[in-house]
Amino acid sequence: MPTAHPVLKAVIPAAGLGTRFLPATKAMPKEMLPVVDKPAIQYVVEEAVSAGLGDVLMITGRNKRPLEDHFDRNYELEDVLTAKGDTGKLADVNHSSDLGTIHYVRQGDPKGLGHAVLCAANHVGDNSFAVLLGDDLIDERDQLLQRMVEVHRATGQSVIALIEVPQDQISLYGCAAVSDLPPGLDLGEGSEPTATEVRQVTGLVEKPAVEDAPSNLAVIGRYVLNPAVFEVLRHTPPGRGGEIQLTDALATLMDTDVADGGGVLGVIFRGRRYDTGDRLDYLKTVVTLASERHDLGGPLVDWLKEFVADK
Ligand code: UTP
Repeated sequence: MPTAHPVLKAVIPAAGLGTRFLPATKAMPKEMLPVVDKPAIQYVVEEAVSAGLGDVLMITGRNKRPLEDHFDRNYELEDVLTAKGDTGKLADVNHSSDLGTIHYVRQGDPKGLGHAVLCAANHVGDNSFAVLLGDDLIDERDQLLQRMVEVHRATGQSVIALIEVPQDQISLYGCAAVSDLPPGLDLGEGSEPTATEVRQVTGLVEKPAVEDAPSNLAVIGRYVLNPAVFEVLRHTPPGRGGEIQLTDALATLMDTDVADGGGVLGVIFRGRRYDTGDRLDYLKTVVTLASERHDLGGPLVDWLKEFVADK
């Protein structure tokens, strides 16, 4: 019987500089950019909570105030909405402060995603945990994180999420080489076994040149990690771009014995993912999600058709 590895805590790094979105991100984290009428990071916190991870640690950077304020009560606004009798808006305003228990830790210098994750070591302790990037949204209809938690719980190995991308785009991502699973590996009961496939990760490289990429499988912003990753991160030197890369630490973990907390599995995700850290993808995300909203979709799609016909 494998040991159970419960995952109870989520870590959301939100300390990056967000240079692709300057000047919007000069005084505000990019994770606070609105996607229709909620900041991107609220979707991510909601995803963590609905996967059963009610203890959320945010890794914040220089402009942490808007993040903390968003997930806190706003009594002035509540008083005004109560006086107006606007119960719908009041519920919306209170919802973000009623989501799980949110903790914050400061990264100091943004020395890379691996360094941001290492900042969670004290809070997480010797427990398995999930990492959700605050600018990467997974559609709530596609239960990726639940499946990753299930695979981790059954195997103890760290689990990363992979998508297939056109080969010429692989250098924008971390890239994974994979092989079939060893025979007899028990993956637990998948909630949506048809939507995902699981592979053993045999190689990892951050943003490779197209000709050096071992596959077209790109690493996206969901991870379920064995706490052994912290010790590896402490010894991971700065890599690509002078940053301490989570991908490099995972490559070491991949070659470590499963009995010592090593091993990395990849869940291949074929559902809906929205990258809000890139300007064009951000615009597509807003249009996609708004067009599916019952209160906005109809008029927006009508207008889009006219707009495109005129172009
Ligand atoms: P990105 O690679 O998107 O980097 O980080 P970035 O600096 O935020 O954005 P650009 O490229 O300059 O526009 C991926 C995730 O890791 C977090 C970011 O906040 C984002 O959620 N991150 C990155 C940190 O928390 N700390 C870091 O040092 C770097």
